Amino acid sequence: MIAVIGSNMVDLITYTDIMPKAGETLEAGRFAMGCGGKGANQAVAAAKLGAKVTMVSKVGDDAFADNTIANFQSFGIDTQHVRKEPGFSSGVAPIFVDSNSQNRILIIKGANSCLSPKDIDDAAEDLKKCGLIVLQLEVPLETVYYAIDFGNQNNIPVLLNPAPASKELDIDYACRCDFFVPNETELEILTGLPVKTEEEIVLAAESLLNKGLKNIIVTMGSRGVLWMSENQKELIGAYTVDAVDTSGAGDAFIGCFAAHYVQCGDVSSSLHEANAYAACSVTACGTQSSYPDAARFTEMRKQFDQ
Ligand code: RIB
Repeated sequence: MIAVIGSNMVDLITYTDIMPKAGETLEAGRFAMGCGGKGANQAVAAAKLGAKVTMVSKVGDDAFADNTIANFQSFGIDTQHVRKEPGFSSGVAPIFVDSNSQNRILIIKGANSCLSPKDIDDAAEDLKKCGLIVLQLEVPLETVYYAIDFGNQNNIPVLLNPAPASKELDIDYACRCDFFVPNETELEILTGLPVKTEEEIVLAAESLLNKGLKNIIVTMGSRGVLWMSENQKELIGAYTVDAVDTSGAGDAFIGCFAAHYVQCGDVSSSLHEANAYAACSVTACGTQSSYPDAARFTEMRKQFDQ
């Protein structure tokens, strides 16, 4: 079983190439609403691929809350540790996607900012049954650190996706995670080093290895994925696909990696699966709505192998 301790949001996606200036009103092309949030997306991707997932998360006491919980349940995700927070809105994320399929995201954390160490204590007996804890940074750092300590104390591997990047992240806690999975923008913010070329990305990842991090997995969009550990360096090229919306592709990658890793325990083959799954996700619109289930993923992969 996988435990995702993290965020959920309502994605408000506008497809547009133009952004208004102050005081200006512009018309955009299209709008879609869906369930999102980095934690929720990772949980749903893993569940769609057949993994058993339990979610520890907070929703608000608004009109979005029941829909978010029902959405988790529709994928078989255990929601007994998804709680409503009185007096708070659910998290929402206005997302802007341009015609190059690139996304820009704002997040309003709402109830996500109330996820606390106590929520981990309350879920402790179920969390102890998990084979992997998956974390992101859309909930308080204090809670992320508590979850890392919980994983370490109970010999459960921990994957940290440092997204959105926070310079306040204590690197000592990152060192206690088994997997550290930034994209190249997050790597740049966290290391202060340039990441324009592959060589620069390798150097930035090396700087984290030198600080004591274990497995650094950098998702690089159309450049693929880099995995570096003390004894390992593997670069996995990206698939060429017709991308329409890259929102949530990193979460698709992590959800798929988690689902495979808990099953087989092999990092390299899990990375190859995740790389293919993320490529599939960018060929459809939205975040969770773009994630194929296991059968559809098998179909889509066949095209890659041709
Ligand atoms: O990673 C994509 C996600 O980031 C979106 O679903 C949005 O909700 C934000 O959390």
